[in-house]
Amino acid sequence: MESAEIRSRWLCFFENGNSQGLTHTVVPSASLIADDPNLLLVNAGMVPFKPFFLGEITPPYKRATSVQKCVRTLDIDEVGKTTRHASFFQMCGNFSFGDYFKEGAIALAWELLTNPVSKGGYGFPEEKLWVTVYLDDDEAADIWHKKIGIPLERIQRRDMADNFWSMGVPGPCGPCSEIYYDRGPQYGVEGGPIADENRYMEVWNLVFMQNERGAGTGKDDFPILGELPAKSIDTGLGLERMAALLQGVENIYEIDTTAQILNKASALTGVKYGSDEKSDIALRVIADHARTSAMLIGDGVTPGNEGRGYVLRRMMRRTIRNMRLIGSHDPIMGELTLAAN
Ligand code: GLY
Repeated sequence: MESAEIRSRWLCFFENGNSQGLTHTVVPSASLIADDPNLLLVNAGMVPFKPFFLGEITPPYKRATSVQKCVRTLDIDEVGKTTRHASFFQMCGNFSFGDYFKEGAIALAWELLTNPVSKGGYGFPEEKLWVTVYLDDDEAADIWHKKIGIPLERIQRRDMADNFWSMGVPGPCGPCSEIYYDRGPQYGVEGGPIADENRYMEVWNLVFMQNERGAGTGKDDFPILGELPAKSIDTGLGLERMAALLQGVENIYEIDTTAQILNKASALTGVKYGSDEKSDIALRVIADHARTSAMLIGDGVTPGNEGRGYVLRRMMRRTIRNMRLIGSHDPIMGELTLAAN
């Protein structure tokens, strides 16, 4: 299934194509330049909706859906080496602002993932899906088990570092429940996501937004300041990860959109993808970073020594460095970014 199709299925399902009768307003992606003094760049689908969750602005709709451009550079050193780390990605999200909560979010996610492709879904076999819940979230575990029918052995509990989501800065936050797809024994050991996140790939994160967090470091070292004015839902499904699974490719760098840049870099250098691990990593880094550079430039960022400009400069420098490592000393940035979409 092409990336464009994954995206349109997502939007149709949430706009008015689900059996729960929960219609959502389709909201176009915001610019990557975040309207938030704590953030350089939009790093999650919920960022444009932050004031709604905090009760600072009354939302013009109770339910929304979007496919949001995102840049995350925290894991930049992992890019190209793992199957799933990208600095640019599109996050498909559905949002409830004081409307449906855990039961609605879980039922919607399950329906879209497991509905057959012929009926507008993504067609995942139910028995290959695992879920995680936050340590003491018995309510979510019960919904998964009793309402959806997931056997208890495929429901795992994880602590704050894994199953409590925030933007990484002060703002709304809450316990989350993640859905994983078992790619099979050739990808790692048995035992669910707690045992191996390469074999069990995270596809969807359902965040039960209910608290506000303060400043702090890391994923679990910050104060909880209190409760949000209303219990809300924020979910995130990485379009690129979904594309890797539905296109049957090994990693997110080989999906339809990113592969165009990877193939361009291969053609420009004459280095064949798949010939050795070192040049494969370089080609994947180039594909990822050239795409991120194109998206940043598209939203008005220019290379510089600080802030967003430095993020872009670093992306471009790493692209060019990796092209040099595999033999090209030509000015290639233009050609690579033209291949990005
Ligand atoms: N906001 C949910 C996520 O980024 O996973």
